[in-house]
Amino acid sequence: MRSITLLYVFLCIFFVQFHHTLQSTSPILFNFGDSNSDTGGYVPALGIYIGLPYGNTFFLKGTSRWCDGRLIIDFLCESLKLKFLSPFLESLAPDFRGGANFAISASKTVIELYAPFSLDVQVKQFFRFQLRSLQLISEGHKDMINESGFSRALYMIDIGQNDLLGALYLSNLTAPPVIKKIPSILAEIKLAVQNLYKFGGKKFWIHNTGPLGCVPRELARHPHNNTDLDRIGCYKVHNVVSMAFNKGLKALCEELRSTFIDATIVYVDIYTIKYDLFANYKRYGFTKPHKACCGFGGEPNNYNVKATCGQPGYTMCDNVTQYIVWDGLHYSEAANRVVASRILSTTFSTPPITLDSFWIP
Ligand SMILES: *[C@@H]1O[C@H](CO)[C@@H](O)[C@H](O)[C@H]1NC(C)=O
Ligand SMILES: *[C@@H]1O[C@H](CO)[C@@H](O)[C@H](O)[C@H]1NC(C)=O
Ligand SMILES: *[C@@H]1O[C@H](CO)[C@@H](O)[C@H](O)[C@H]1NC(C)=O
Ligand SMILES: *[C@@H]1O[C@H](CO)[C@@H](O)[C@H](O)[C@H]1NC(C)=O
Repeated sequence: MRSITLLYVFLCIFFVQFHHTLQSTSPILFNFGDSNSDTGGYVPALGIYIGLPYGNTFFLKGTSRWCDGRLIIDFLCESLKLKFLSPFLESLAPDFRGGANFAISASKTVIELYAPFSLDVQVKQFFRFQLRSLQLISEGHKDMINESGFSRALYMIDIGQNDLLGALYLSNLTAPPVIKKIPSILAEIKLAVQNLYKFGGKKFWIHNTGPLGCVPRELARHPHNNTDLDRIGCYKVHNVVSMAFNKGLKALCEELRSTFIDATIVYVDIYTIKYDLFANYKRYGFTKPHKACCGFGGEPNNYNVKATCGQPGYTMCDNVTQYIVWDGLHYSEAANRVVASRILSTTFSTPPITLDSFWIP
């Protein structure tokens, strides 16, 4: 009898401890970026609803993700057993216990008239979120992220693609003027990390930019001949600027690591992962890598600016899991799934640490 009581007491202590460990190490994620990781902020930000066929693969409804289904960040959340991130601007029934998403589609690092949610604005919104959370906790509210939560949270950044594409159009697809602008784009990312660090952030996860010259929209929009393309059919100039940006971003991460020695800064090479999808598409079950699933015009790119995915006249492929790109620019859920699994492998990360290791006590 006595030993059973003792066992009971022991088990209770064990479970309380165990529960406590789970609680204080459950993942917290804050994300900043553009349409690559916008999980629905675009609707409340700009009042633009993105309905079906966007969302028709997994959610079976429009969720304001620029994808047929889940984004890379959704798969990363799933791997952490974390709910999909609520957009910071979601005012009705958001769930911010596991973090928040400040990413808004079309965002650049710098502010633009049609894209007001630049990286610095997103970081300012995060400060407001943090300040309010800590205020509410001090007033006795529960289920808010506290100070230790903010310092053990992971801060993810995936931005730059829209700055590069915008500069590329302005330069009529010549690389040198774009390359000249890269330091100013990187300066914004540096400022964001510095500010997040100042406010308690210690863990950073930074995605580089993909091969912008491989997507159907860019190939369809700009007339080209074979000398403009590389051996796998991607626009060279786009990828030249993408790679130049990524080289700078990688160096920036090294610099930040040596400045903030108590911080962890992981740089993830999305470019290599995505380029491999286009180069070795058959290996992943894809067909016609430079053709959009949802769009208009058929071969070779199924992209026409006058009838983009969801607009009158668009057509859709039979089997979206065979397509890398969903609507001409944004990747399909099938591609995002592969990209996420390769991110999780750590092969493309510097330093090569696993995503979940951030929360192992
Ligand atoms: C902060 O929040 C976590 C998770 O809710 C909790 O386990 C921890 O005890 C809190 N820390 C403080 C100092 O209140
Ligand atoms: C790009 O092309 C347009 C139209 O051909 C021209 O007006 C413009 O000056 C060009 N811009 C640059 C930076 O070359
Ligand atoms: C291909 O197009 C580029 C401009 O896009 C031009 O400079 C080049 O001369 C063209 N090459 C051929 C072989 O037509
Ligand atoms: C769609 O394509 C995938 C990959 O090629 C294949 O495994 C699957 O069976 C296809 N589904 C249908 C309904 O045809």
